[in-house]
Amino acid sequence: MPAEGNITGRSEAQWQAVLACRRRTAPLYGAGELAELYGSLCAIPAGQSFAVAHLAQSLDGRIATASGASQWISGDEDLRHTHRMRALADAVVVGADTILHDDPLLTVRRCAGPSPVRVVIDPDRRLKADHRVFTDASAPTLVVVAADCANGLALGAAEIIHLPRVDGIVSPRAIRRALAARGLHWLFIEGGGVTISHFLRTRCLDRLQLTIAPMILGSGRPSLNLPEIDAPDLGLRPQIRRIALGQDVLFECIFGDRDGD
Ligand SMILES: NC(=O)c1ccc[n+]([C@@H]2O[C@H](COP(=O)([O-])OP(=O)(O)OC[C@H]3O[C@@H](n4cnc5c(N)ncnc54)[C@H](OP(=O)(O)O)[C@@H]3O)[C@@H](O)[C@H]2O)c1
Repeated sequence: MPAEGNITGRSEAQWQAVLACRRRTAPLYGAGELAELYGSLCAIPAGQSFAVAHLAQSLDGRIATASGASQWISGDEDLRHTHRMRALADAVVVGADTILHDDPLLTVRRCAGPSPVRVVIDPDRRLKADHRVFTDASAPTLVVVAADCANGLALGAAEIIHLPRVDGIVSPRAIRRALAARGLHWLFIEGGGVTISHFLRTRCLDRLQLTIAPMILGSGRPSLNLPEIDAPDLGLRPQIRRIALGQDVLFECIFGDRDGD
């Protein structure tokens, strides 16, 4: 497995080869350099629960300004990569604050490929029904709401799933199981930092992609936020792959000990 590379300027044919491999209509042949980044992601066996998260952050570990503005921290290559990850996923998962601040569509538009099911974690039903994921019909949307806040089965065009709240959060493991029961096994957790930190803290991530952009925000919303540790040697040291995306660098952390399904 190559440790480093650069995937700028790849052809559409190479991406189609990746998509065909993911759909299991062909082996991974003709993907060129894209095989380096996407090959192992396509090799996840059908029906196996798998969760990969992604954040674009500044050199000082910020994913947005304090006011919530995050467009854009990383460059075009990383934005296209994000859409490619959506196209590979059964479902794309985000937290309520990402919907609140960005009002994203979460569909695939910067590359070829199918849009995944959209999943929003909004335990207390803070979000209004007029956000685009709840009104746009181009992909199904599910909303994860805490069972103790059960009031209704729909939010706009989205279906609500009720899951128990444990220790103040909805267990990411329970979210993975509920989605797997609907045939949604390969999950792309697209943010923000709070949501991904919950998945990481509960060992519910198989991989974490951090794209580091060569800029300093100096303030703003943090990327990861995990419980305090007393010494650097208690930090996580996963296997790492490093791939250049234009001016940015993507670090992919591969966790060997997840127990999320
Ligand atoms: N740079 C990037 O890659 C990137 C990516 C995505 C978003 N963003 C930016 O990041 C900001 C939003 O990120 P954020 O970290 O502040 O918030 P977030 O992760 O989008 O949303 C956090 C909220 O989602 C709910 N939530 C998520 N997981 C949960 C769980 N397991 N159980 C219960 N509730 C859960 C909680 O809602 P409650 O508070 O109601 O409990 C939580 O406070 C926005 O400004 C957005 O623009 C940047």
